[in-house]
Amino acid sequence: MTDVREELGELLAQAREHLLYYRDLGLTHIGEEKKTATGESFAATKEESPVSETAAPKPAPIMPPPLPVESNAPETPLSALLMPPQSFPKQEITMAKKNEPQAPAIISLFGNATESQPETSPARETLPGSETLPARETLEDIRRDLGECQRCKLWTTRTNIVFGEGNPKAELMFVGEAPGADEDASGRPFVGRAGQLLTKMIEAINLKREDVYIANSLKSRPPGNRNPEADETRACIPFLYRQIACIHPKLIVTLGNPATQGLLETKTGISLLRGKFQNYPRIAGIKLLPTFHPAYLLRSPDKKRDAWEDMKKVRAFLRGEIEP
Ligand code: URA
Repeated sequence: MTDVREELGELLAQAREHLLYYRDLGLTHIGEEKKTATGESFAATKEESPVSETAAPKPAPIMPPPLPVESNAPETPLSALLMPPQSFPKQEITMAKKNEPQAPAIISLFGNATESQPETSPARETLPGSETLPARETLEDIRRDLGECQRCKLWTTRTNIVFGEGNPKAELMFVGEAPGADEDASGRPFVGRAGQLLTKMIEAINLKREDVYIANSLKSRPPGNRNPEADETRACIPFLYRQIACIHPKLIVTLGNPATQGLLETKTGISLLRGKFQNYPRIAGIKLLPTFHPAYLLRSPDKKRDAWEDMKKVRAFLRGEIEP
């Protein structure tokens, strides 16, 4: 009996953790979204509660919860579900059970993350029909070619190159602007506060960071996190193009202006492009969805609702539920 109680307590603590993390994404309600007469999302008109910029990151949940927006359950204030486990009202527990986690269909859409790329690839491979074509380069080839890059001035101030990381066969790729201080120190993309929010956004659509690939337009940190300069982008972005060609994702989510404008080769700003599917101009069949940069979301928590709408589109697209 004690064991069962302990287990229940543990489950409730986990459920609470998940709900806290939805709250961090700016969600205030769980359940079916109500539409206004104009079709506008009812939830989107609600006030967002600002997330403290100094709040310590919460540990990642063990199992993703069901996705609230697809539930047929009535809308439930998130605050009601955020009560400490011991004060969970019976009714809420019953409702949570009704919404037992759905099988995350999306997981099967991703390639095998554990399958490793060959260290080196043969220069040419023979195809049936005795024809030979150049083999596609691997991420390792591209990294090797990048080397200890000195193609622009940023090499003089950076600590580490931040190449990118994740599943080399990902169907979903996130592209940011450039490494910040934490990324420069660690050599890994999106590991600072903005990165922690990005991880939550990924997990909120039932994916793990390891399922996707994360990279930046620039591989070296601009000093003081200033915006990338044109010559730096010109020198660096070809490596991103090659990473995209190699990974060949179904969808690229660009985070903020520089990544969006760099990959779409446009001067149009993020506020016009956000949430609208585009074609990645360099490879037919690859879609691109611009959304806000998580660092911007930390400064403007009222925009998290829009970012969440975009993430739902990402999920629906990968599940084959929408055709852009
Ligand atoms: N911001 C970015 O654009 N990229 C990172 O890797 C970190 C912060």
